Amino acid sequence: MSKKTPNTLTYPTSWTAKYSSKDKAMIRRIVDWLNDTSNIEKGWTRTLLARQATISSTTFHQIMDGTYPSPPTSHLKKAIEVMEHDVERHERGVHAKNFVETSVYGAVLAACKRAHIYRGFAVVSAFVGTGKTTAVKHYAKEHESAVLVEATPDMTAAILLAEIVELTGAVVHKSKYTQGTKAEKMRAIITALKGTDRMLILDEAETVTPQCLEFMRRISDKAEVGVVLSGTERLKPLIKDPRGRFGQISSRVIFWPQVIKGITELDANALTRAAMKDDDVELTDEILDAFWQMCDGSARVLCNSLIPGVRDYGLNKGKELTPELVFGVGNKLLGFERPKSPRGK
Ligand SMILES: Nc1ncnc2c1ncn2[C@@H]1O[C@H](COP(=O)(O)OP(=O)(O)O)[C@@H](O)[C@H]1O
Ligand SMILES: [Mg+2]
Repeated sequence: MSKKTPNTLTYPTSWTAKYSSKDKAMIRRIVDWLNDTSNIEKGWTRTLLARQATISSTTFHQIMDGTYPSPPTSHLKKAIEVMEHDVERHERGVHAKNFVETSVYGAVLAACKRAHIYRGFAVVSAFVGTGKTTAVKHYAKEHESAVLVEATPDMTAAILLAEIVELTGAVVHKSKYTQGTKAEKMRAIITALKGTDRMLILDEAETVTPQCLEFMRRISDKAEVGVVLSGTERLKPLIKDPRGRFGQISSRVIFWPQVIKGITELDANALTRAAMKDDDVELTDEILDAFWQMCDGSARVLCNSLIPGVRDYGLNKGKELTPELVFGVGNKLLGFERPKSPRGK
């Protein structure tokens, strides 16, 4: 089954007494929205919706199953608001990002390929904002067989397994009384993955509970599928120590590149060019260098703060794009210091 067609969500068949008819209507609306093909393609899942709405995934899963013991109204309103914002963002083109094959993407691609081919573990550690999530999402979009799980800090093994079930379309034996135990979900996932060319990617892997990684290892072992763990610099030492929390995994890692501390100057230049391709400006070497100096090795600072800031506070006010404008915006409006000696030089 393709990952683009995960399990269709259904309306709850029973509700606790705390659900009003408005709550039930909101749940139906959320279920319909999550089942919508275009939203599935955009990667929306219950877990992602919960995360964006800042509802604990455990709570949200309970609410959506009709088993939440308290009035769920305020949580549901938050989820609906996230959905409405997403529609608005798409209308305004905020999501239209230009993907660039950065050095971080290169490292992620190598890790994914090795894990995929050799069906083992690959670990990518890179500082925040360097483009890990963008890279793994791109890989998963390009490779039908890759299953991307985006971890949440409160992700328990139960939520992780529910998420993998949803993403892989694994068929869990459910009774009238339970949605399937962890063991049943494991069995279903292994059956769904074994003998296939699929692989799993866990993003933000350093944030999950040890039990989650233990389940990833067992899935990898039993189903014989590769796993990529992507995370910050905190991930590597967590797994590296064979006697540490995740020691069981360290002996299975087949690919383990150096921790990536930042994007390179070439990355920064390429990202700036791609992000500003529709702005009517000339990107001289000096301007590119100013963006590079001010971004501090972070693709996020560059693409999500500096460039929009330069646009909003400079270009849209009729100012000319100069290195001084870039330094000024970074410094005055976003609070970044201009480095005394440029990074990496
Ligand atoms: N390869 C890329 N192409 C285009 N933009 C990128 C790329 N990598 C990162 N970015 C930009 O940087 C931001 C942060 O990247 P993200 O993948 O969330 O970093 P991380 O997961 O390492 O914290 C993204 O929202 C995007 O704007
Ligand atoms: Mg990330």
